[in-house]
Amino acid sequence: MRIVLLASNPELYSNKRIMEAAEKRGHQVRFINIEQCFMNICAKNPEIHYHDGQTISEVDVVIPRIKPAMTLYGNAVLRQFELMGAVCLNTPIAISKSRDKLRSLQILAQHKIDIPTTAFAHSPQNTKNIISLVGGAPLIVKLLEGTQGIGVVLAETQKASESVIRAFKMLKTHILVQQFIKESAGQDLRCFVIGDKVVGAVQRTASDGDFRSNLHLGGIAEVVKVTPQERKVAILAAKAMGLHIAGVDVIRSDTGPKVLEVNSSPGIQGIETATKIDIADKMIEYAEKLFEKKQQKS
Ligand SMILES: Nc1ncnc2c1ncn2[C@@H]1O[C@H](COP(=O)(O)OP(=O)(O)O)[C@@H](O)[C@H]1O
Ligand SMILES: [Mg+2]
Repeated sequence: MRIVLLASNPELYSNKRIMEAAEKRGHQVRFINIEQCFMNICAKNPEIHYHDGQTISEVDVVIPRIKPAMTLYGNAVLRQFELMGAVCLNTPIAISKSRDKLRSLQILAQHKIDIPTTAFAHSPQNTKNIISLVGGAPLIVKLLEGTQGIGVVLAETQKASESVIRAFKMLKTHILVQQFIKESAGQDLRCFVIGDKVVGAVQRTASDGDFRSNLHLGGIAEVVKVTPQERKVAILAAKAMGLHIAGVDVIRSDTGPKVLEVNSSPGIQGIETATKIDIADKMIEYAEKLFEKKQQKS
């Protein structure tokens, strides 16, 4: 297959591993930097041009690894590849759904997937009601645009909750307010889903004094055995978002597993290192299946 890895930094572990795995399975793979693409939008002959003057054509499969700050443009380039007939390992529509925390929680709820109770409001006048909707403090406040744990805050008391919510509203940022799953004790599960399988899972534990288990914040990843119910919920969540490749964050609560979020470009370093599973190879293998299916249809 002729594969394009659409991303921003060829030196990242995940990107290097994906390229390596593609070559190892006998494919032609090319790294394309999102920012260096430009396009013509027309019905007859959609094209993607590259900074070096080349026209990018004849692509079988695109593997998008779009960083959050590049979602809008990255998805536009990905749609262009789709128009040109390439198979996208994650589609632009699924990526845009998963990048919007509010929209994705609504989609999960629509599919009857358990999530922590979450509230959202536009006006700061509703602060007290919002707090009581999620069962009072302690509670979590999340920036809609945050990633890697950075926009996630724990407010321990009613007063702290009111101040944090008001402060964010003053800044005109969009937030959601969420029930704090205290019993998870700074741990969550990252389930790596490919197609309709969890191909690997790790338990992430927050560094001392933090409740956020993100590896970027110093959390550690260890191999974990997930229960059939956790497995099922992770697969359903990926499917609800329409993602072929997904990192589903699941939290263990007293009332069963709850999905926190579904990532469309999950990092593979933490999970490959902890589990020794060749995740990159499994991604390429799945891409082969998708491409085969498309060829059978046409
Ligand atoms: N409702 C919650 N209850 C308990 N811990 C939470 C909750 N929401 C998030 N966390 C912790 O914070 C981390 C980051 O939250 P998440 O929603 O995944 O945001 P991000 O997109 O920034 O990673 C999670 O991995 C989890 O450890
Ligand atoms: Mg997360």
